[in-house]
Amino acid sequence: MPSPSPEPVVRPVGLAVIGLGVIGRRMLEQAALSPALRVVGAWDIDAAACQRAQADFPDTVIAADARALMQAAGVDLVYIGTPPAFHRDYCLMAADLGRHVFCEKPLTARLEEARLLVTELNARATPNAVNFVFASAPAADYLAARLADGSLGDIAAIEMRIFFSQWPRAWQASAQWLRLREQGGFVREVLSHFVYLSLRLFGDCRLVGSQVIWPADPSLCERAASALLNCAGIPATLSAASGASGPDEVVYTVRGSRGALRLTNWYEVEESDGQAWRPVVLPADSSGDPRTAAYQRQLANLVCFARGQPHPLPDAGIALQVQTVIEGIVSVP
Ligand SMILES: NC(=O)c1ccc[n+]([C@@H]2O[C@H](COP(=O)([O-])OP(=O)(O)OC[C@H]3O[C@@H](n4cnc5c(N)ncnc54)[C@H](O)[C@@H]3O)[C@@H](O)[C@H]2O)c1
Repeated sequence: MPSPSPEPVVRPVGLAVIGLGVIGRRMLEQAALSPALRVVGAWDIDAAACQRAQADFPDTVIAADARALMQAAGVDLVYIGTPPAFHRDYCLMAADLGRHVFCEKPLTARLEEARLLVTELNARATPNAVNFVFASAPAADYLAARLADGSLGDIAAIEMRIFFSQWPRAWQASAQWLRLREQGGFVREVLSHFVYLSLRLFGDCRLVGSQVIWPADPSLCERAASALLNCAGIPATLSAASGASGPDEVVYTVRGSRGALRLTNWYEVEESDGQAWRPVVLPADSSGDPRTAAYQRQLANLVCFARGQPHPLPDAGIALQVQTVIEGIVSVP
């Protein structure tokens, strides 16, 4: 009898990480938990950031520069975790080297540049995806399932609300670009996730009107913003503010004729049938940490993307739709 043929060996997807700040380091930390991913190398323009990453993740090979990083043998996918002003250059460098592109949101700092980048990636037929974690987070999947099963009745209203006592938040103290109007601000940085989630859940999300309060110093980002959006016929209100006391809030609410759901603190879901909100217990992964669960699902989907398999990650075209709404609120003509 012929012996059974051995299982084909599937090698891990080779990842290059560019930008070793808050999110680049999170990628190193999370990729280390995923056997299907191998970090081939990493690089940051700041030598101190490279040294810190090397000290905290000793297995990481620090490349000589961005091009050497992307060209290294075994790199399938380039993850771009720099501030938005540099995303386009690195996306195109990776695309021209034949690598898959996984870019952080927002796609770019300026809307015209984002439009250009989508055209450029399409012209090169570069497989690309953008890191909106609500593409994979169990909490977002739960909302999608409850909308699909009709149990909330007719959806009548959506609310997106954020408040931060301090911006940037304490854990982002090193990312001072987030304070600046040029490419930072909490509308771009945080509400973009809710606009993406609305596109995912409802298929459309457009800006109807908005108002922003700016600080006296024209270099600084917004102090507060409000907007009305139209999500496939459902009205959505958006409100954002920072710089006062009280707990931070990041809340996305969907209200239907028979019930309401809200996503709080990024990864938790609460439900109401008209009475007080009560928590929904979501299936946990082995880590027991909802952020890790969401990130690991995102990375599992990233592996599917890199292998050309079906996956739910949004591409640059969807990120452009998000950015069109966001820049409609905060870009200064
Ligand atoms: N998907 C998410 O949930 C999420 C969360 C946080 C941040 N982000 C996004 O990730 C990106 C980075 O944010 P962050 O909070 O890590 O910022 P950060 O300032 O902490 O880190 C950015 C890093 O990029 C490096 N850098 C700057 N210019 C560079 C260049 N030209 N070449 C190479 N490296 C360069 C900096 O030295 C720094 O180490 C932003 O686009 C941000 O919006 C996404």
